[in-house]
Amino acid sequence: MHKITIAIDGYSSCGKSTLAKALAQELNYKYIDTGAMYRAVAWYALKNGIIDQDQNINNNLLLANLNKIDVSFEFNQHTQQSDVYLNGHNIESNIRTMEVSSIVSKISSIKEVREKMVALQRIMGEGKGFILDGRDIGTHVFPKAELKLFMTANTDIRAKRRQDEYFSKQQYFSLEEVKQSLIDRDNEDINRQENPLIQAQDAVVIDNSDISREQQLAFVLKLIEDLKLISE
Ligand code: DC
Repeated sequence: MHKITIAIDGYSSCGKSTLAKALAQELNYKYIDTGAMYRAVAWYALKNGIIDQDQNINNNLLLANLNKIDVSFEFNQHTQQSDVYLNGHNIESNIRTMEVSSIVSKISSIKEVREKMVALQRIMGEGKGFILDGRDIGTHVFPKAELKLFMTANTDIRAKRRQDEYFSKQQYFSLEEVKQSLIDRDNEDINRQENPLIQAQDAVVIDNSDISREQQLAFVLKLIEDLKLISE
């Protein structure tokens, strides 16, 4: 079977990873969650005194520690998904918190951090049969990806989905707080200097405000078929 690279970019909490995981399962592809990699760096910074109480980042200290930060993925047989590891420790359950979310865009805007993560992503996704989601996959990491998707959804709907996700992990925030955090993160991702979030010219836009996960998956599978991207 001829395999391709699929790049999924878009705003925060648009269901990129939900779509990526479903596609990976359907096509028997490997999924790389690049946001988890930046979250792992943010977690390291939080745990190593690199960020103060006012969320100021000590850039020099972070850069001095960059070569001590080893991010990797390992398949979890129990959840049937890949977990992110920081220096050999599984930190999957630590990185999807408001604490990390509120600092990760700042961390990911640092040039050296991006260079390191992008280099790793290119190694991890080398060859075909990979689905990567993030902000700069189709524009920068794999600009030659055969299929590029750009995801968006109504901000209120995104905030509600993210709030439900926090609730399921016993993290309680008001809808307003969650919404503001999403808006702030989008703004930082769009306005940063290094590889900002922009839609690739050849990306197909998916607004999933009013469609189900199943409809979204069916739409992309049909797209792949119509574009004859995967041949036997
Ligand atoms: O996809 P996510 O919400 O887990 O990503 C966390 C943050 O990481 C996001 O706010 C921006 C950053 N990010 C990035 O800059 N580039 C990527 N390819 C993926 C994520």
